[in-house]
Amino acid sequence: MPLSSLVITGANRGIGLETVRRFLEDPDWQVIATCRNPDTASDLQALQARHGARLELHALDVGDAASVAQFADALSGRAVDVLLNNAGVMGAHQSLEEIDFDAWLSEFDVNTLGPMRLALALRPNLALSVAPRIMTISSQMGSMARPRGGSYAYRSSKAAVNKAMQGLSLDLAEAGVCVVVVHPGWVRTDMGGSGADISVEQSAAGIHRLALDLTLADSGRFLTYTGEDHPW
Ligand SMILES: NC(=O)c1ccc[n+]([C@@H]2O[C@H](COP(=O)([O-])OP(=O)(O)OC[C@H]3O[C@@H](n4cnc5c(N)ncnc54)[C@H](OP(=O)(O)O)[C@@H]3O)[C@@H](O)[C@H]2O)c1
Repeated sequence: MPLSSLVITGANRGIGLETVRRFLEDPDWQVIATCRNPDTASDLQALQARHGARLELHALDVGDAASVAQFADALSGRAVDVLLNNAGVMGAHQSLEEIDFDAWLSEFDVNTLGPMRLALALRPNLALSVAPRIMTISSQMGSMARPRGGSYAYRSSKAAVNKAMQGLSLDLAEAGVCVVVVHPGWVRTDMGGSGADISVEQSAAGIHRLALDLTLADSGRFLTYTGEDHPW
C-alpha cells in the first residue's frame, strides 16, 4: 500500500509542528511539511533526521502567490490526500482606537487568501487521491455564534475563510474533495499563550483523528478538533 500524503503549512512551530509529529507516529503517512524558512526550522530538521524520506521539507509562504506556485510546481504529478491549511497569524487585539488597516489586510492575506491559494494550486494533486481532503484551521474567534468586540482583523479573517471554505466544499463536491474548517481548541502555543485550555499534543491528536475519519459526507462542516460541529 502506498503511503497517504499530508501537506501542511506553518509546520515549524505550534500546532503545525506537533501535527507533523503526530502524523509521523502513524506509519501510514508521508508528511510534506512546509514553512517560511526551512533552513532555520531546527525542530523539523531534527524530525527529518529521524524519519528520513517520510518527512519532506519545503519553503512556502502562504501569503506569497509566487511561493505557492513554486511549491505546487515542486509537487507536480504527486497525489495529495490531505491538505492541512494550518499557517495563521494573529496581530494585536485591535480596539476601535487601534485599528491598523494595513495590518488587517496582511492578516487577511495569510489567514483567508492563503488557504484558498493552496487549495487552488494543489487541485491537480488532490485529484490524484482516492479520498482528497482539505482541512483549514479556522477559529472559534471567527464564529458568528460568539459575539465579541476587538481583534477585528483576526476574527474577520477567520469568519471569511469559513465562508470561502464552505463555498469550496460545494464547488469541489463533484470532484469528490471533502472540505472542512476546524477549530483546533484554545491551544498553548505562541499564539494561544500559556494560559490556554489544551496542549499541542491534544490538539494535534484530534486533528490527526479527524483527518482519518473524514468522508465526503462531512464536507462543508465547521468542526472542533474533537469532531463535533462548531456553530458557524
Ligand atoms: N493557538 C490557539 O489557541 C488557536 C486557536 C484557534 C485557532 N488557531 C489557529 O491555528 C493555527 C496554528 O496556530 P498556532 O497556535 O500554532 O500559532 P503559532 O504558534 O503562532 O504558529 C503559527 C504558524 O503559522 C506560520 N505562518 C505565519 N504566517 C505564515 C505565512 N505567511 N506563510 C507560512 N506560514 C506562516 C508561522 O510561521 P513563522 O514561524 O515563520 O512565523 C507558524 O509556523 C493558526 O491558523 C491559528 O489561527 C490557534
